[in-house]
Amino acid sequence: MQVLMVASECAPFVKTGGLADVVGALPAALASLGVDTQVVLPAYPALFPLLPTGTEVARFDDLPGGTGRIVKVAAHGLTLLLLDAPQLFDRPCGLYVDETGKDWPDNHLRFGALSMAAARIAMGQIDGYHPDVLHAHDWQAALTPVYLKMSNQQTPRSIITIHNIAFQGRFGPQVLGQLHLKTDWFHPEGLEFHGDLNLLKGALMFSDRITTVSPTYAREILTPEFGMGLDGVLRSRSDVLSGLLNGIDTDAWNPSDDPALAEPYDAKSLKRKTANRTALCARLGLEPERGGPLFCVVSRLTSQKGLDALLDAVPHLVAKGGQLAILGSGQPELEQGFMDAAEAYPGQVAAFIGYDEPLSHLFQAGSDVILIPSRFEPCGLTQLYGLRYGTLPVVARTGGLADTVIDANVAAIAAKVATGFVFGDVSALGLSEVIDRVIEAHSDPKLWQSMQRNAMRHPVSWESSAKAYRDLYSELI
Ligand code: ADP
Ligand code: GLC
Repeated sequence: MQVLMVASECAPFVKTGGLADVVGALPAALASLGVDTQVVLPAYPALFPLLPTGTEVARFDDLPGGTGRIVKVAAHGLTLLLLDAPQLFDRPCGLYVDETGKDWPDNHLRFGALSMAAARIAMGQIDGYHPDVLHAHDWQAALTPVYLKMSNQQTPRSIITIHNIAFQGRFGPQVLGQLHLKTDWFHPEGLEFHGDLNLLKGALMFSDRITTVSPTYAREILTPEFGMGLDGVLRSRSDVLSGLLNGIDTDAWNPSDDPALAEPYDAKSLKRKTANRTALCARLGLEPERGGPLFCVVSRLTSQKGLDALLDAVPHLVAKGGQLAILGSGQPELEQGFMDAAEAYPGQVAAFIGYDEPLSHLFQAGSDVILIPSRFEPCGLTQLYGLRYGTLPVVARTGGLADTVIDANVAAIAAKVATGFVFGDVSALGLSEVIDRVIEAHSDPKLWQSMQRNAMRHPVSWESSAKAYRDLYSELI
């Protein structure tokens, strides 16, 4: 079976969040099940060194935003179809934003071109390549199923995966023509959303299947509270919607073989995890031995992630003997807030503002607890990394967080299945209450270690979800 994926990010090449981890890891898991995946990805500057190692397999003169060519490259176990269109993708800074943090004004053209190139490939533009299924990820790829539907040809069946419905790709109606979209599709049953063009809505209307990244989020987005205005559209298509939990790359995230760690460890040698705590504290200027748990955050600093509530709970966390290490970047007021907290509590709170992949591994290995107080979380990957590293997750009861962490309540402790802490109220008070529970559990080393072992045994690989994707693909064809 042949699957063509299209996405705007792919680890380890280009990443702003979990989407990249998923697109980078799922193809390998599918390969072991006999599914051959190729990934259409923009040729951003980080990918330029790969271009000369590949083969040009297609050229397009009339993409939105101009011309482009497709270069096929094998790298990191993936087969990439890079869209080389320097006028759209040869830019410094973020993948989606300029140096001031503002969206590039031609993002509709950039990702319209990506989607159109992918649709043409899906329809046989590359000699000898006829994929069975087109699998698009998020709004940046969302026009692909729309272009397939617009063509009057025989096309592969299509899937859109929603990684985060907060991001929809919404643009003024004046760009319809630039994107080669039919104006008679611009109505509420089609591409129109409150007078604008909504790319994700287009995919939700015109894909054969819709998936999202956890069963709980699949239910949540059917409600006005979580659907971000698209809950009605999703309810009308709920017969084709399902939630498939993300897995993680258990080779890239393996505490017994991780080059970013001070010392490798596994569930049988948890004592060696301490060396990583010492290394992390030294790196961040935290006091090495305070006795209480070291909490960490590895995250985009945005309101989605509930970190404003955590900021309000910092005095309580420190007063109770905990320490806090932050790795993240994002909203300036949150960055400033955590830098101020680090200044107010030297040795107890540290903030590393920026993006650092190896450091994120040391954070996971060196901390006792990873905090994820999200207001909504389609899946979340850092709690899965935490489980794998014996770093107990403290998570809000939402989306994929609720699907992956077993709360240390009395019944779960008695049954020896607890893997972390789940709480409901994302506020300073809710966080303070759960911090108290964590600190109490941490003061019982036997309980703590048994929870670490439960966590490290919890299945987090792609194995079962890759099978679920394969079954979905098979059903479609
Ligand atoms: P989201 O995709 O919403 O940002 P996920 O939990 O799915 O959330 O994925 C976030 C990914 O980005 C994880 O791999 C996490 O380790 C990584 N990450 C987030 N912030 C940073 C950072 N500042 N430095 C390194 N890695 C980070
Ligand atoms: C999104 C979501 C996150 C999810 C990731 C990968 O960025 O915010 O919850 O884990 O996509 O699917």
